[in-house]
Amino acid sequence: MKILAFESSCDETAAAVVEDGRRILSDVVLSQIDIHHRYGGVVPEIASRAHTEAICTVCERALREADLKPEEVDAVGVTNRPGLIGALLVGVNFAKSLAFTLQKPLIPVNHIEGHIAALYLAHPELEPPFLALVMSGGHSSLVEVRGYTAFLLIGSTRDDAAGEAFDKAGRVLGIGYPGGKEMDRLASLGNPDAIAFPPCAIRDHAFDFTFSGLKTAVINHTHNKKQCGEAIVPEDLAASFTKAVCAGIQSRLENAFAAFPHRKLVLAGGVAANSHIRKAAAETCRKCGATIFLPPPSLCGDNGAMIAAQAYYNFRAGITADESLNAYATSPFSFHP
Ligand code: KG4
Ligand code: ZN
Repeated sequence: MKILAFESSCDETAAAVVEDGRRILSDVVLSQIDIHHRYGGVVPEIASRAHTEAICTVCERALREADLKPEEVDAVGVTNRPGLIGALLVGVNFAKSLAFTLQKPLIPVNHIEGHIAALYLAHPELEPPFLALVMSGGHSSLVEVRGYTAFLLIGSTRDDAAGEAFDKAGRVLGIGYPGGKEMDRLASLGNPDAIAFPPCAIRDHAFDFTFSGLKTAVINHTHNKKQCGEAIVPEDLAASFTKAVCAGIQSRLENAFAAFPHRKLVLAGGVAANSHIRKAAAETCRKCGATIFLPPPSLCGDNGAMIAAQAYYNFRAGITADESLNAYATSPFSFHP
């Protein structure tokens, strides 16, 4: 079954064709980073407009690269939650019109579930159940994936998302938006023990995260340094910040392995590209006797292939929609137990 799917929840306009949820026939991503860079973050109205301008192009390219005519696709998938509402609506309305015109099934997909499904594309042997840690610019969720369409959210952030924290720390250091990738590079060059930052774990909850204290600690550290006339060492700050993030992640994962029988961990979302987090999570998995499944860099950030992959499993579970399909900005996670 060949599914053409669209992703427009934030600042990437993407379309892809995936066969049977596992084989990528095409995967086209148009990033808006260059547009939002100058504002230091995503401007929702500008994002919606840019999606409108790009969506036909990504659709045509995804079909061409898959060597398919529109009528040869079997279904149309689309991210309809959560995300920027105006941005989501562009993809949802485009997908609705296309599905209606082609008289093909329309399949709604939760963006976070899509991030998890990205791993099916990279690891043919991966099947639920497993634990998944999804960390992106908008979410930090620890999930028990009971089946392809059965998810139990066991932990999440109480405040900022992991990617947001990397981007904010990056902004304090004056590196451009989004700062995650550059923070990763700087951290490799610095001393992780230079500054004692608080770990990103909630003390009285086994699986939840908090990133706001860490963000404040970064801001306080830079203010103090400036007031004392001392230089900030970006490499040391990035390394110490990353160490605190990794420590929090490791404690959440250890608790999850102690509480759940699964011995498979999936890392997903834009922040899963972070080399230090990948190493830290792998180390915890080794300690807990679990196998880790990592996404290739091309499937960490937002893309259409991950949405097409999850759309396949949603379709098999009977999750389809009609022309009344809507977009939802805040729907945190969907459960189909
Ligand atoms: O999943 P994604 O592409 O979009 C959302 O759904 O939000 O994630 C984007 C986030 C950004 O905050 C970006 O800074 C972060 O992922 N990111 C990283 C790295 N690469 C991207 N964060 C830490 N280390 C990285 N190497
Ligand atoms: Zn995402």
